[in-house]
Amino acid sequence: MRRNKVTVVGAGAVGSTSAHWIATKELADVVLVDLVNGLPQGVALDLASSGPVEDFDLKIVGTNDYEPTADSDVILITAGVPRKKDPVTGKFPSRDELVKINQDVVGPLTEKLAKYSPNSIIIVVTNPLDAMCHVVKSVSGFPRERVIGQAGALDTARYKTFIAMELGVSVEDVHGIVLGGHGDEMVPLPRHTSVSGIPLRELMSEDKIQAIIERTRKGGGEIVGLMGRSAYYAPASASVSMIESILKDKKRVIASAVYLQGEYGYKDLFIGVPAVLGAKGVEKIIEMDLNAEEKGMLEVSAKAVRSVVDVMGLK
Ligand code: APR
Repeated sequence: MRRNKVTVVGAGAVGSTSAHWIATKELADVVLVDLVNGLPQGVALDLASSGPVEDFDLKIVGTNDYEPTADSDVILITAGVPRKKDPVTGKFPSRDELVKINQDVVGPLTEKLAKYSPNSIIIVVTNPLDAMCHVVKSVSGFPRERVIGQAGALDTARYKTFIAMELGVSVEDVHGIVLGGHGDEMVPLPRHTSVSGIPLRELMSEDKIQAIIERTRKGGGEIVGLMGRSAYYAPASASVSMIESILKDKKRVIASAVYLQGEYGYKDLFIGVPAVLGAKGVEKIIEMDLNAEEKGMLEVSAKAVRSVVDVMGLK
């Protein structure tokens, strides 16, 4: 029987942390690819050397080439320039600057990945997330089932974490979902949030719920503000939860950026929706019955995504 193979592009913070969790869960052999000579090789060797201690038995290799990625089942794209302060000017790149920079990173490498693994499922992590999904879909030519953006998994994890912290209950008992684009206009859904089935609104005041929604929307920025660079633990674990659902055909329902074709009233747009993730990638999009207020928030988020996508001149 052939072993699963996952390629992680970008051996930086999110990529190496993702490889770490793939390994400790013993999900697949891992190929780490990065532009920087020595970096993926070093990360791979270091991680592989923890196998005897952590008790995983996988092939983990690092490379600067794309040939070793051939026949990957799943590819995680984290390569890009994260939101970080310019050491000289002390300024963060503008949203539009970041789109162009990362479009030029993600486009060419997607071409190589698609050539060597034409049947793979690609999960995109590089920001601006929804826009980068458009780049990957357009360059790879893959069907929409096999190009998925990791955003909702992370945003939902942050939302649940803040609720558990506020209520002093286990994160395991908090259930909920965050839809929309991966930006300040994302759409946490308190009406669909519960703690062990108890509606959130029976447990928390509206003021506190709104404060948590705001904190979730700015969750990435809060960490950038604290560390001076973007997060990696939660982005990596969110990514690996999607990889796991695909490789084990678990059919978990995970908020994912999917190329909508009429669902929720949107067409030709990547946006975060509940998706069933299994061996074929996105196996189903679940259309929730949103009320007018929730639809309005999704519309604001969709417009924000569309405006970023338009910067690139892509569909
Ligand atoms: N090909 C391969 N690797 C590349 C390329 C390229 N063309 N360009 C950049 N990289 C690599 C860098 O060398 C670096 O090792 O991508 C890696 C990115 O790592 P970090 O700078 O540590 O960034 P990280 O925190 O991992 O974030 C990556 O994920 O969550 C998003 O916003 C985040 O878009 C960012 C991405």
